[in-house]
Amino acid sequence: MIEIAEGIDVRKCFDKEVLGFLKKYKEKAEPIEVSFRKLVPELYKTDRATHLIHTYPAKLLMHIPHFFLNNNIFSREGDLILDPFSGSGTVMLESVLAGRNAVGADANPLARLISSVKVTNYNTETLKLHLENLRKDFSKTGDVIVPKISNINYWFFPRIQNQMAKISHIIQNIHDDKIKEFFLVCFSNCVKKLSLADQRVSVPVRLNPARYPETHPLFTETSKKLAGLEYIDVFEKFEETVRSNINRFINLSKLFSRGVSAKIISDDARKIIDGNAQIQGIKKESVSLIISSPPYAGAQKYIRSSSLSLGWLNFLKTVDSLKEFDSYNIGRENYQRKDYCILKKTNVAEADVLLEEIFKINPLRAHIAGNYLREMRSAFEESVKALKQDGYFILIVANNKVCGMEFRTQEYLTKIMLNLGMKLQLELIDDIKSYGLMTKRNKTASVITREWVLVFKK
Ligand SMILES: C[S@@+](CC[C@H](N)C(=O)[O-])C[C@H]1O[C@@H](n2cnc3c(N)ncnc32)[C@H](O)[C@@H]1O
Repeated sequence: MIEIAEGIDVRKCFDKEVLGFLKKYKEKAEPIEVSFRKLVPELYKTDRATHLIHTYPAKLLMHIPHFFLNNNIFSREGDLILDPFSGSGTVMLESVLAGRNAVGADANPLARLISSVKVTNYNTETLKLHLENLRKDFSKTGDVIVPKISNINYWFFPRIQNQMAKISHIIQNIHDDKIKEFFLVCFSNCVKKLSLADQRVSVPVRLNPARYPETHPLFTETSKKLAGLEYIDVFEKFEETVRSNINRFINLSKLFSRGVSAKIISDDARKIIDGNAQIQGIKKESVSLIISSPPYAGAQKYIRSSSLSLGWLNFLKTVDSLKEFDSYNIGRENYQRKDYCILKKTNVAEADVLLEEIFKINPLRAHIAGNYLREMRSAFEESVKALKQDGYFILIVANNKVCGMEFRTQEYLTKIMLNLGMKLQLELIDDIKSYGLMTKRNKTASVITREWVLVFKK
């Protein structure tokens, strides 16, 4: 049972701890072992403010940005914070809670929606009124056309499809865009629960009790879930989520710092500076601090794991939309043979040596990892441009395995940052037990158990 944190301000100033780490690192130049959970024990309740309004793969432990935002060394109140891979908005939320302004970018439209909603200081009485109206509209509305969602009958029982279509229809009729977004996030968070997909797996896989022996606890659990779906009250499930989320926004309103704002500015970390035709970006050298946990090579399939929600939220306009979103996802796995018939250099010497070995065994995997490093370099270049002189860039990153060989992501990304003129100021290492990144990413990748927090200065 998750405890919802009260609206008490747990903020404290971590100047002393930060200065202690910087000093120790300057003396020894060795990574320092830490436990962020122990550093910030105040955050023991996971359901704090709006962090849990929607699930998301590989979410960042909130303690990490909380620690780096609540001190006067890396940034000050009113400063601008950037997360170029903002995912579900953990850094953006911690920024506004710490009295900083925030901007973010993400390639996944669902991530962008969740982040924007997560950092909005809603009038919760208005949300409650809208919920009452939605309930009335739901009971008045007859059957509506079920949206065209690929393989819908494979993923949803027909009765559930009809009820979901009705909820989606009445939400679309809400005139206020911000309020509509709130209800879309609540609806989206119910999609997987209402589907025949196994919730324990991030990419949709259909529930199938026959996969387990009859004596296995998962056989009983899966059978129970399937039976439950036969008679589930879809609106009730939605309403339950809305009510929990309204409570989260009540807590947020108690913690929200006055006069700060947060917004999503781009769908690509490589395009965040103003002057780019498609976006209203930020100015060069306007950001005081960047905190980000980037994607990994051949890692979480962010777009595919969001595909059911993306379908119901009408983000998939054509049959190629998923592919299109995936095409600018850094770390993606889908390439054509012509892309990987020759191995291109990454200009990170250690990585190039390893990639040549991997190329001999599996050219596709070598290309995925190599292209990942090249694209991360472009993303870092853009972020560094946005950073003020003397500003800090905090990167949370772990190692991975590619074809059974250790792929030292943290080391390669460090090389790229140094190459861009950034100076390494601190390396912290934390175990990440019971954390979103603990999923095995693919057959040849390993489970990530340790994580580096790297602090660079411009
Ligand atoms: C490790 S997750 C970030 C999780 C986030 N810190 C949170 O707490 O939810 C990495 C994110 O990078 C995003 N991403 C991948 N390619 C991107 C790109 N080109 N530009 C911006 N974001 C991208 C993915 O969609 C994913 O949401």
